Amino acid sequence: MKAKKKDSIIVIEKMSKSYQMGDVTVHALKDVTLTIEPNQVTVILGPSGCGKTTLLNQIGGIDSPTNGKIYVNGTQIQSMNQGQLTKYRQDNIGFVFQFFNLIPNLTASENIEFVLEYVMNMPSKEVHSRSQELLDQVGLGDRGGHFPFQMSGGEQQRVSIARALSKNPNILLADEPTGELDYHTGKKILKLLTSFAREGRAVLIVTHNKELAKIAHKVLYLRDGKIANVEKNAKPMDIENLEW
Ligand SMILES: Nc1ncnc2c1ncn2[C@@H]1O[C@H](COP(=O)(O)OP(=O)(O)O)[C@@H](O)[C@H]1O
Ligand SMILES: [Mg+2]
Repeated sequence: MKAKKKDSIIVIEKMSKSYQMGDVTVHALKDVTLTIEPNQVTVILGPSGCGKTTLLNQIGGIDSPTNGKIYVNGTQIQSMNQGQLTKYRQDNIGFVFQFFNLIPNLTASENIEFVLEYVMNMPSKEVHSRSQELLDQVGLGDRGGHFPFQMSGGEQQRVSIARALSKNPNILLADEPTGELDYHTGKKILKLLTSFAREGRAVLIVTHNKELAKIAHKVLYLRDGKIANVEKNAKPMDIENLEW
């Protein structure tokens, strides 16, 4: 099945997501329609509880919508069986989780090597130097041997970013990726994340920080589970000039 807008990597049509909590239905997303373009940074901006993480989870194929359709590269992901969905995630999605989701009994290096070896099927003898390279990129070259509990929130966040980049994904989903970072590290990480939006790849950054709207090609304002506004920036701001 073909998506309508052939230039978009992701097309979402009238998607809703509700959670049943006993007698209460939580309508986390309501009738969301949007497109995500390759070679672009898209920022999804909205206050806590407006449905940002829920939206990323649907796109990333780790949850499925109650209604509506999600097309990625023209294929509707809800029509996939479990095996196809696993392959979809492996081949397409890099996820920077809001709460990092590192494996607690693996070191920083091993958290990345695990993905390189078992998801990317990289030869064992190459994985260590590649994970070292990725840790260097996020400024943690000397922390490879640390376990998650031996690292600050910001350091764990950066390991989580290195792990997501290790897959060289078509779609990078970053959930509040600078939430735990200081100003200078945050800028460095944003440069790294946004530099990824080329060669057909799309970068989605979810945040409640309004300043980050300036670095995006497209900003989707999410309010109470709905897209309230869409804004396009012809020329995103240089991250060096960003203040927050
Ligand atoms: N698994 C879940 N079960 C029940 N309610 C959920 C679940 N995930 C999210 N919600 C609810 O959906 C709404 C949106 O949550 P979320 O997407 O996490 O917001 P955000 O990431 O913007 O802070 C919230 O009201 C939240 O409590
Ligand atoms: Mg969230």
